[in-house]
Amino acid sequence: MIIKNICCIGAGYVGGPTMSVIALKCPHINVTVVDANPDKIKEWNGPVNNLPIYEPGLSDVVKEARGRNLFFSDDIAGNIEKAEMIFMAVNTPTKTEGEGAGMKADLRNIEACAKDIAKYSKKDKIVVEKSTLPVRTAEKIKEILYEKSTDNHFEILSNPEFLAEGTAIQDLFKSDRVLIGGDDSESGQNAVKALVDIYANWIPKEKILTTNVWSSELAKLASNAMLAQRISSINSLSGLCEKTGANIDELSKAIGMDHRIGPKFLKASAGFGGSCFQKDILNLVYLCKFYGLEQEAEYWHQVVRINDNQKKRFAKKVIDYFNGDLSGIRVAILGWAFKANTNDSRESASIKVSEILYKSGASITIYDPMVQKRSISNDIKNLWDTKVKLNDKRINIVEKISETKKCDTFVILTEWEEFKLIDIEESKIIFDGRNINHNKNKISIGK
Ligand code: NAD
Ligand code: UDX
Repeated sequence: MIIKNICCIGAGYVGGPTMSVIALKCPHINVTVVDANPDKIKEWNGPVNNLPIYEPGLSDVVKEARGRNLFFSDDIAGNIEKAEMIFMAVNTPTKTEGEGAGMKADLRNIEACAKDIAKYSKKDKIVVEKSTLPVRTAEKIKEILYEKSTDNHFEILSNPEFLAEGTAIQDLFKSDRVLIGGDDSESGQNAVKALVDIYANWIPKEKILTTNVWSSELAKLASNAMLAQRISSINSLSGLCEKTGANIDELSKAIGMDHRIGPKFLKASAGFGGSCFQKDILNLVYLCKFYGLEQEAEYWHQVVRINDNQKKRFAKKVIDYFNGDLSGIRVAILGWAFKANTNDSRESASIKVSEILYKSGASITIYDPMVQKRSISNDIKNLWDTKVKLNDKRINIVEKISETKKCDTFVILTEWEEFKLIDIEESKIIFDGRNINHNKNKISIGK
């Protein structure tokens, strides 16, 4: 099948950047990103310095491709009909109610996409799973497609995305690997080839790995679980360092110099955040349990439990320093994003840590260079267990770092470059939850 038109459903952190890069590298293909949220589409079509997501390098890519062969649209039906290949890049959060709540992936958005594809298709399509999905989801998608549409042939591919936020464009330009899972049949292999040919426009062939659908689906969950497991391993050791006088940075360096282990993802922190790690491990735990693998489920679950504990342990370091009472203490929370170079705060350690400090009596002043004030107050309103009034005088969200100057204590929770350079008075106390080696006296994780 010759691919002239791609449609991607979902204009979020994955759909937006991945499709922008495909469009940039494949000027012969029209790429249209659609979304159920028309406001988001409006923003994607607006000024490039105000796109709905912040990613270094993204605005340049959008500037070059948008209007040439990259389009953002709220016409879901029309663009599904036109495309030969459809990517599903919708969110797949953890279920919050019903069977499997708190563990299982909520696939309602994926099911809605499959129903739309079946409804609006008037010719054969290649349907690509870009979202992270439980192993064997392709089966369910196929069922929905053929239940609703009997006239067309649908080939389902798994092509999980491995980009990390903050480095998404760089990751997409030079992927470690592109993974494509497809069916063994002739039509399945033709579909795999069509997608390989797209990536081959800029990714070396030896980095494009083709597998069966189930391996590809599971490899994504497994990759995230293993990355997060390294962080939980080093974070668990940071606790032991604090008790014994060993230094966590020295430990990370010593461990990481073993070429069999390697140095990446061994940085102790106040806990990993982001929309993927926790959700994907919980999904893996659910799958293990579903297939009766209780020990394996327990093993992976512990990675998330250590992470929850790490956030609490870090907050406790601050509280213990003030002998359990933070009343009257003015704490600056530096960083709300879950990591540097993104405006995304999903599962950010800041959310939990700041709540614990607030509950212990502190007045908190929050500053982040990229996360909007509105998002921060929504996180507080929706994600804190402690209910607070909007005009609470103990919570202050500020737009300039200079407005945190009056605080007595600084808690660094995102490794933004500017936090490495700020000048905090000698007399003030710094708790560094990201081990960013601020050159002042400070109290860090693992030390
Ligand atoms: P997101 O929330 O940023 O974006 C998802 C978009 O899909 C939203 O704009 C939403 O309005 C839209 N949407 C949902 N249902 C829809 C429907 N039925 N029709 C049309 N639009 C719909 O999510 P994201 O961070 O881009 O993640 C998407 C998927 O990619 C998830 O499965 C995630 O696990 C996976 N993933 C994310 C990352 C990451 O760094 N964020 C990396 C790799 C993989
Ligand atoms: C992750 C995966 O890296 C990526 O491959 C996948 O596609 C999506 O999930 P992301 O969550 O965007 O990417 O960022 P990542 O760089 O993995 O960081 C996740 C969290 O771990 C951040 O809060 C970060 O600060 C923390 N982290 C990372 C550590 O605490 N220590 C480390 O050594 C590395």
